Amino acid sequence: MWLFAYGSLIFRPGFAFQRRVRGYVEGFERRFWQVSTDHRGTPESPGRVVTLVSVPGARCWGVAYELSDADFERYVAHLDVRERNGYDRIALPFVAQDRQVTGVLSAVAYIAPAGNPHFGGELPLPELADIIRASSGPSGHNAEYILSLAEALAALDVEDAHVFELANWVSDPAAAATDD
Ligand code: BEZ
Repeated sequence: MWLFAYGSLIFRPGFAFQRRVRGYVEGFERRFWQVSTDHRGTPESPGRVVTLVSVPGARCWGVAYELSDADFERYVAHLDVRERNGYDRIALPFVAQDRQVTGVLSAVAYIAPAGNPHFGGELPLPELADIIRASSGPSGHNAEYILSLAEALAALDVEDAHVFELANWVSDPAAAATDD
């Protein structure tokens, strides 16, 4: 059983796995468009976390974890509760491009579709960055989330303009403004 990770599960899986494989899902891009009042924000100061948005022809790179059947059932039951604020569990074809594994695998992923009650949608990057810099929740600071994700994607040699540009706005808004 495979679980596709495109967000915090890339840098903090929190479960035992058999293999971790780099690859992508087609037709999606990663966006910080989901509001978080329970993990990286609070109801008073909501943060932003990732979801996948449908973009024909796009690829969203990440990793897929292979879990034993028992670990998969246990962890997915945990994620179903943890990600109840707007995320749906779906199965997606994952294209593995890794030294260990290549080919298409069926992987489970959590996606918060547009229109869910916590969908924040698109905002200019400086505004998203202000929200992220100001927000912290039970799972940690929102800035730590995006900076860890950007670092993990860079380590995987994955290009993601949305994440990297937003991370620049979060870490150094004055420099990001001059880059524009
Ligand atoms: C992840 O891939 O890290 C993830 C994204 C959204 C919800 C749960 C996990």
